[in-house]
Amino acid sequence: MANVVLIGTQWGDEGKGKIVDLLTEWANVVVRFQGGNNAGHTLVIEGRRYALHLIPSGIMRPGKVCVIGSGVVVDLKILLDEIRLLKEESGREIISQLILSDEAHLILESHRRLDQARERQRGEAKIGTTGRGIGPAYESKMARWGLRLGDLLAPEAELHQRLATLLEQHNLLLEKIYREEPVSLVAVFRELKEAAALLKPAIRKVPYEMARCLDSGEAILFEGAQGTLLDIDHGTYPFVTSSSTLAANACASAGIGVRHIDEVVGVIKAYTTRVGSGPFPVELEDETGDQLRDKGGEFGTTTGRPRRCGWLDLVALRYAIMLNGLDSFALTKLDVLSGLKKIKVCEAYRLNGRIIDYFPSSITELERCEPVLTEYPGWDEDITAVLEYDRLPENARAYIAALEQKLGIPAMLVSVGPDRAQTILRHNPFAA
Ligand code: IMP
Repeated sequence: MANVVLIGTQWGDEGKGKIVDLLTEWANVVVRFQGGNNAGHTLVIEGRRYALHLIPSGIMRPGKVCVIGSGVVVDLKILLDEIRLLKEESGREIISQLILSDEAHLILESHRRLDQARERQRGEAKIGTTGRGIGPAYESKMARWGLRLGDLLAPEAELHQRLATLLEQHNLLLEKIYREEPVSLVAVFRELKEAAALLKPAIRKVPYEMARCLDSGEAILFEGAQGTLLDIDHGTYPFVTSSSTLAANACASAGIGVRHIDEVVGVIKAYTTRVGSGPFPVELEDETGDQLRDKGGEFGTTTGRPRRCGWLDLVALRYAIMLNGLDSFALTKLDVLSGLKKIKVCEAYRLNGRIIDYFPSSITELERCEPVLTEYPGWDEDITAVLEYDRLPENARAYIAALEQKLGIPAMLVSVGPDRAQTILRHNPFAA
C-alpha cells in the first residue's frame, strides 16, 4: 500500500481539505503533522459545508483513523468542540477514530492572549497571525516548558506544577510587558482536567501506532496545513507560521523513517492567495484581484479575512517543488479562472533591473521583485460540471499542459468546484 504526503505549495488555502477528503477514500489512516487550529478546511459533501480546524478532514469518512502527530499544537477547547460537533453531525463516536500524540504540545489561554498582545504591540508591522496562539505555543515547546497532551495523563500534582510554572512566566509577560490581565491558573487547570477525562483513550505514543500501521500495510495519507511559503525556515520569514510546513516534517512529526513515503503531492491553486502581511510579488490590487476574490470565495475559513489575490507564481512553485520533492500536483479552483480573457503566469522576477529565477530569502529583496508575466488565452465555458479531462475547453487544457511542462511534474488531479464530485482524477497515488 502507498503512503502519500500532501502539502500546500503556496501561502496556504490551496484547497487541501477537499483533496485530502477525496484521497482519504483510498487511505486507512490520515495524519496531521504540523500547525494547529490556524488551519481551516472547508469541505462540501453533498451540498453541505463543513469547516474543520484541527481534526483531519478524513474524519468525515467512517472507519478512517485520524492521527494528530507530535508536531501539531493542540487547543483542547477547539478539539473538544470539533469532537462534539462531528458527533452531532454524524451520530458517530468520533473519539474512537482519533489517535492523539502524547508528544503534541498544548495551546493554552495564555498562548492565545500572548499572540494577540504581541500583534497589537507590533502595530503596523504585525504578522497578521490568526490570533490562535500558534506562535507562542511553539515558543513554549522550543523553550522546553511547554505542556504536552501526555501531561494530561500525569498525576494531578505534577500537571498542576507544570502548568503553574508556565503560567507564572506567561502572566509576568502579560501583566508587566503587555499590561493585560493575568490568566487564571485555577480555570486553566480545571479545563485541562476535564479534557483529560474525555481524551484519555485517544492519547497514545504515535510512532508505535505508526509502526503498527506500516507493518500491517495500511495506506497512510499525511495532510499538510498552511503552505510551503509559510514554512518557518524556508518561507517569507518573519511573515510565516511557526511550524515546518514541508513534506519532510510529515515523517519527523509522525515518527517514521523517510523511506516509507511513496509519493509527495503538492496542491496548487490555479492562482495565488495570501492572508496576513508579507511580500507577495504577484499580488493584484485591481479589478482582476477583486474578481478572483469574489468568484473564488477568497475569505479565510479561520478568521474570515479577505485574502489577497494574484496570478500563479512559477518561481515560487518551482521553489516549492524543490523544497518538498514533489512528484505531482493537484490543481484546484481551475473553474474560478473561467471567463477571464487572459490568464497570466509569473515566469521570473525582475529585481533591481536583473531577471532572476530563484525565490529570495530576504523579504526586502522579495518586496522589490516585480513579476515577469506571460499571458495565456482564457476560456468562457463553465467547467464546473466537466468530469473528463478531454472535455475541458482547449485553452484550459493548454494552460494545464503549460504548467506541467514548466514545472516538470504532472497534474494528478484537476478540481473544478468545491464538491467532492467536481474532480477530474488523472492518477491515483494510492494505486501506484
Ligand atoms: P499564525 O499561524 O496564526 O501564527 O499566522 C502566521 C501567518 O500564517 C499569518 O500570515 C496567517 O495568515 C498565516 N496562516 C496561518 N494559518 C494559515 C492557513 O491555514 N492558511 C493561510 N494562511 C495561514
